[in-house]
Amino acid sequence: MKRILSGIQPSGIPHIGNYFGAMKQCIDLQNEGEDYLFIADYHSLTTNPKPEDLRARILRLAVDFLACGIDPEKTVFFRQSDVPEVCELTWILNNLVGLGFLERAHSYKDKIAKGFTPNNGLFSYPVLMASDILIYQSNLVPVGKDQKQHLEMTRDIAIKFNQTYGETFVIPEEKISETVAVIPGLDGQKMSKSYNNTIEIFFETEKAARKKFMSIKTDSKGMEEPKDPESCSVFQLYKLFATPAQVEEMRRRYLAGNYGYGQAKQALFEAYMDFFAPMRKRREELLADPGYVQSVLKAGAEKARAEAVKTMKTVRERVGLA
Ligand code: ADP
Ligand code: TRP
Repeated sequence: MKRILSGIQPSGIPHIGNYFGAMKQCIDLQNEGEDYLFIADYHSLTTNPKPEDLRARILRLAVDFLACGIDPEKTVFFRQSDVPEVCELTWILNNLVGLGFLERAHSYKDKIAKGFTPNNGLFSYPVLMASDILIYQSNLVPVGKDQKQHLEMTRDIAIKFNQTYGETFVIPEEKISETVAVIPGLDGQKMSKSYNNTIEIFFETEKAARKKFMSIKTDSKGMEEPKDPESCSVFQLYKLFATPAQVEEMRRRYLAGNYGYGQAKQALFEAYMDFFAPMRKRREELLADPGYVQSVLKAGAEKARAEAVKTMKTVRERVGLA
């Protein structure tokens, strides 16, 4: 059976862009192979978060993922840092990676272009990511387009190791989700926490959720005027939650006029509430039982770690450490 592995950074409160762009894919893939999913908390350290913030985000991501449908019976769900062997592998792989190779990484170049002063962790981020993938002998890695180059680097590193020290690692395949649309945020740009335009998957109260939906930016067309559904974020978001018949009905109303943005936002809000209703219920149960979430992560870490230790035994022998 194929081993499918993915990781997500605990970089903020999960929003509906994350859900449709990344989390849903992990949830849907659960029946297709032997699934590994981890919270990439070591990677998050590259941005030097406050310890209490990092701790809270890790837990939030774990709870939200479980609420949205990660099934610990099907998926080995764990925290990256519960398997410290990946750091040992990172160190070993570092010695096969040239500086020029890392300097070519888009994610690194982008951050430099935005004026960040990079630390060594950010620079060697792709090596840690390669270790994540290789240590579990993963066959398939579902990622967004932005991670394509990291996957190519992982393959290069694995090939180099195998050529230097003998066959050790499975060469992983990428699974790029080209079909996932870019989810627009409150202001119509790509939804992203860096743009401060996100709609969270879960809110503290229904009132807070409704307020967010009502603040989606639209043009200033009056109530009676016909409107363009395709250029409107409210309509684009509605498509994620409504049935095809409901979507057609809203399209017709937009084009016909006498349909205000306030009404469209209310319909969107209701569709969103319905869509996440079962997940919200599950989340309430999880929040009432924090020990359960910790026990899931612990059991996941034990399974993952056993695999990692096995790989590291071979790696240590191959490079001459054992
Ligand atoms: P953010 O942009 O809020 O910082 P991340 O970069 O942490 O989000 O993204 C985590 C995952 O969610 C990535 O796989 C990314 O492709 C996906 N994702 C984030 N925002 C969107 C969006 N607006 N539309 C589609 N996918 C998204
Ligand atoms: N770099 C990925 C991201 O920012 C997260 C990640 C870390 C990852 N390690 C991984 C994804 C291993 C897939 C496999 O989205």
